[in-house]
Amino acid sequence: MSHKTADLTVLQQAFPYPRSGAGATTDLGRLISSGIEESGPIPFSDFMAQALYHSELGYYARAKARTVSKEGDFMTSVSVGSVFGTLLARRLHRFWIANGSPSEFTILEPGAHDGSLATDILDEIDSLDPSFAKATRYLVCEPLPARRKVLEAKLGNRTTVIASPTEAQAEIGALVANEVLDALPVPLYLLSNKQWHEILVTSSDGLLDWSSRPANLDLPSNFPEGYVTEGPPDLKSFLEPLSTVFQQALFIWIDYGLDEETLYHPARTCLLYTSPSPRDRG
Ligand SMILES: C[S@@+](CC[C@H](N)C(=O)[O-])C[C@H]1O[C@@H](n2cnc3c(N)ncnc32)[C@H](O)[C@@H]1O
Repeated sequence: MSHKTADLTVLQQAFPYPRSGAGATTDLGRLISSGIEESGPIPFSDFMAQALYHSELGYYARAKARTVSKEGDFMTSVSVGSVFGTLLARRLHRFWIANGSPSEFTILEPGAHDGSLATDILDEIDSLDPSFAKATRYLVCEPLPARRKVLEAKLGNRTTVIASPTEAQAEIGALVANEVLDALPVPLYLLSNKQWHEILVTSSDGLLDWSSRPANLDLPSNFPEGYVTEGPPDLKSFLEPLSTVFQQALFIWIDYGLDEETLYHPARTCLLYTSPSPRDRG
């Protein structure tokens, strides 16, 4: 089948760049632009990885910003109070008892962000059962150095902060991860001219823009023109190191999403998005 080029105007209208009120290009934007101008357009997932996880300029590396909290950019179940951590601690306690109350039990939390969930879980473990508290070793795993500093300062000697799951080995324990899977970089796909295209980010004269390439995607093509959807993150690279930590473990992944019918509803076409007016953007 011959591949037609994608009409990117829907994306350009819905998500123009730059989006800041002042029209300024950020340091990170400049860095990504110059990389693209040197080596060529990048998949959206690579752009997202840099935007979120550049070690100094990425969204999650802004150690002082109130990113995840009631006063921040978004909230999680942890932001609204300690009851979520309390429930998880009780689940972990049941698992510990069901497995013969081992004298060492490792809890590994990837994506602990500011350590609030770790604090809530540990507080509940301390008040629930002194033997369980004695057995518990709590590890938080965070690849960003700036976030590791925040975690070390907040959690002190209650936890061990590690940069990669490869630093941990345990006979028995549990992994707890809240809203981490949905923060992993994803590719984006656009249906245009009745074909799927992978969305790329390009740059010209220091300004980022959309580009595309043919996508080899097993999705039906009966969606409206301009439909945009996420592809899966690189779960293999993320999960493989975690899978080597424990001999035996309970894995608790908490995340939210839409069911298939809602996610692929034609009303979710990007034609329906409107970009904020310059006044709203400030
Ligand atoms: C949405 S926040 C998590 C929110 C937090 N767990 C809570 O309940 O409030 C996503 C976090 O995942 C972290 N993260 C992203 N990739 C990661 C990885 N490969 N390993 C561990 N943490 C990661 C980010 O640095 C960020 O702190």
